[in-house]
Amino acid sequence: MTEIPAAPAHSEHARAALAAFRAQTGVDATHLVFAPGRVNLIGEHTDYNGGFVLPMAIEPGIYLAARPRADRVVRIWSTQFPEAPAEFAIDVALEPGEPSWSNYVRGVIAGLQAADARVPGFDAVVHATLPGGGGLSSSAALEVAAATLGELLAGVTLDPERKALLCQHAEHAFAHTPCGIMDQFAVVFGKRGHLLLIDCQSRERTLVPMRGDDVALLVVNTMVRHALSDGGYKSRRDDCHEAARLLGVRELRDATPEVVQAAQTLLPERLFRRARHVTTENRRTLAAVDALRSGDWLKLGALMHASHASLRDDYDVSCAELDAVVDAAGDLGPERGVYGCRMTGGGFGGCCVVLVRATQVAEVKEALRTRYHAATGIEPVVFATQPADGPAVLLQP
Ligand code: GLA
Repeated sequence: MTEIPAAPAHSEHARAALAAFRAQTGVDATHLVFAPGRVNLIGEHTDYNGGFVLPMAIEPGIYLAARPRADRVVRIWSTQFPEAPAEFAIDVALEPGEPSWSNYVRGVIAGLQAADARVPGFDAVVHATLPGGGGLSSSAALEVAAATLGELLAGVTLDPERKALLCQHAEHAFAHTPCGIMDQFAVVFGKRGHLLLIDCQSRERTLVPMRGDDVALLVVNTMVRHALSDGGYKSRRDDCHEAARLLGVRELRDATPEVVQAAQTLLPERLFRRARHVTTENRRTLAAVDALRSGDWLKLGALMHASHASLRDDYDVSCAELDAVVDAAGDLGPERGVYGCRMTGGGFGGCCVVLVRATQVAEVKEALRTRYHAATGIEPVVFATQPADGPAVLLQP
C-alpha cells in the first residue's frame, strides 16, 4: 500500500478520517482522498449568466476514506451526521435517496457509470473540515472528493474539466440545485497561492497570483442559513434569463451596464436591478483582477464593498447577518486593517470574505467577532484562509 505523505495541513484530519473509517467498519481504509472548499473573492451570481468569477480553493474541505468491497454495494457514513449510513446498490440505475447529503455521492457515481467508468462497491467515511451549508461549497467538495475516489476505484482518469462538469451535473440531477460552474471549477482547478479567474462563457481559466505578504483573507461565518435559499437561487436564475431575453442577448454576459441602463424603461424594475447587478459585477470582477495584479488593495477592497452593495440592493440575496459583518468591516476601514468585505457564495446567510492588512489580522478578527455578536447575538466563526490546491490523493494501494 502506498501511503502518500500527507501535507502537514492534512495530517491531523487525514488521521481522523482513517480512524473514523476503522471505527465504522472494523477494518482499515485503503484509499483516502481530499477535496477543498472554496471562497469566491468576487464575481457573484455571474456564473450562470456566462460571466466572470474569481474564486479560490481553501484549506478546509472534505476527506473521504474508503475501501472497495467485493459486491456492488456502497455504504457511506458521515462523521457530521453519524445517525445511519447511506446504503445503495450500484448495479441498478441510481436515484436520489436518503440521507440527502448522500445524493452528491450517488449523483457522481451515476455520472461515472454513464461515462463508462466501472466503479466497484465500496465503504466510505466522509470527514468534513468545512461547515455544511455555510456557503463554502461543501457540496462541490463532496462531489469532487467522490469523483476522485471513483476515478481511483475504477482505474480511470477523467479530463479535469469533464470531471468538474460531471460533478455539476450530479448537483443538478441529484440535489436539484441548478448551480453554475464556479464551485466545481474552483475545487477542481484550485492552486495554492492563486485566485482562479473563470470566464464562464468560454470556460477559459486564468490563474492570478495572490501577490505579496501585505494582505490576508478572513472568512466570517455568520452561522445562519435562511430557508429562502433554494427557491431564491432558482428565481434569480429565472429573472436573469428573462432579462436577457428582453434585452435581446443570449445571456447577460453579452450585455453591459450601459446597455442595461439604456433599457431601463423596457425592463420591469426587478429585472432591471438583476441585470444591473450582473453586468456591473462582471466589470468589477475584471477590475479586481487588475487590482490584484498591481497590489492595489484599496481598489480591490472598494470593489468588494461595491459588490456587496449590489448583491444586497439589486440582487436581494444578502440578509441582516451578512450586512452586519460588512457594516462592521466597513466601520473598521483601511485605517484599522480592513480593505474590503463582501458576502461570498449564493447568499441568504453563510459567509463573508474580508481583505485584511496582514499585520492586523488578529485585531480585525477580534473586532469583527465582537461587533457581529453585539449586532446579532450570534457567535460567528472567523478564520484566516489562503488560496489552496485542488483535490489530493493521500492514500492508495
Ligand atoms: C452558488 C452556486 C454557484 C454560484 C454562486 C453564486 O454557490 O453553486 O454556481 O452561482 O452560488 O455566485
